[in-house]
Amino acid sequence: MANLQTTYLGLKLKNPIIVSSSGLTSNVESIKKLASNGAAAVVLKSLFEEQILQETGMLSAHSDYPEAEDYLKAYVRSNSVDKYLELIKEAKKAVDIPVMASINCFSASSWIDFAAKIQEAGADALEINVFILATDSRKKSEDYEEVYFTLAEKLKKVISIPFSFKLGDHFTNPLRIIEQLWYRDVKGVVLFNRFFAPDIDIDKMKVTAAEVFSNPADIRDPLRWVAIANQVVPKIDISASTGVHDGEAVVKLLLAGAKSVQVCSTLYKHGHAHIKSLVDFLSAWMDKKGLSTIEDFKGKMNYGQIGDPEVYERSQFMKYYSDHD
Ligand SMILES: Cc1cc2nc3c(=O)[nH]c(=O)nc-3n(C[C@H](O)[C@H](O)[C@H](O)COP(=O)(O)O)c2cc1C
Repeated sequence: MANLQTTYLGLKLKNPIIVSSSGLTSNVESIKKLASNGAAAVVLKSLFEEQILQETGMLSAHSDYPEAEDYLKAYVRSNSVDKYLELIKEAKKAVDIPVMASINCFSASSWIDFAAKIQEAGADALEINVFILATDSRKKSEDYEEVYFTLAEKLKKVISIPFSFKLGDHFTNPLRIIEQLWYRDVKGVVLFNRFFAPDIDIDKMKVTAAEVFSNPADIRDPLRWVAIANQVVPKIDISASTGVHDGEAVVKLLLAGAKSVQVCSTLYKHGHAHIKSLVDFLSAWMDKKGLSTIEDFKGKMNYGQIGDPEVYERSQFMKYYSDHD
């Protein structure tokens, strides 16, 4: 029988399937259920930079958006930072799989010192979920990108547990970001986050929330960039995220070069027990192919390993569209 063990950020995983940061990982009961259904690790629901700054009194007293500030205060009241630290401790007691904390941030400001508390609470690793929306036309891309690098440099001084960056898919040159993070001792990247996005209700003429859940076709961007990044920055661990709904997607992303695969939407749709079917599929596929370990095939279809790397490049789309009149 196939051995599904692997490592991610230096942590031992019994299989490559991690439950990504979401409501599924926001309470101990759910985390216990995820672990008992075969999850190899969990990334806890994100704590927000604003929460940390608010509680430590560092959030600016005056805001241009008083409504947003009121919302934030109410949110912070019911989702305190102490509760988050408690969640880390309780989760660590309740399950024997790695528990990673997550912070959602947009700046490299004083919230970073708080990462030490996350480490003290016992988190095995920290995932940094950065989202900076580039809305200032006077700024250069480098100005935004610099925040990621400064964050990595500062975090390195504050914590010794491994940390990863969960990135969006909007960079002009994601490889530079990934490589620069690696140079700054970031052990892993999550490719990619799927951010909350707006939609418009044309009857009510109101901006609303777009569909939060992914679908299986959304695997295409992570698949391409996992394959390319694994070749170009081979030493950084990649966790693939977005659009992983079935066992086939897990296999594809491992072949492309991911060390682990994160799942979220599919568990909201099919329940916690769906993890078991992903694990079983992977195991059966490896047996069928005569593969004994994940290392036997991880990255075997990355950008450098396949004979024709162009299939991962954009030109292939030109060919595709010209073949479909
Ligand atoms: C309801 C919900 C809540 C989420 N909350 C977080 C969060 O707190 N932090 C985070 O980094 N990602 C969050 N995500 C994003 C997921 O972790 C994941 O990256 C994204 O949904 C893409 O994966 P999927 O296709 O498996 O759903 C959330 C997603 C959903 C659907």
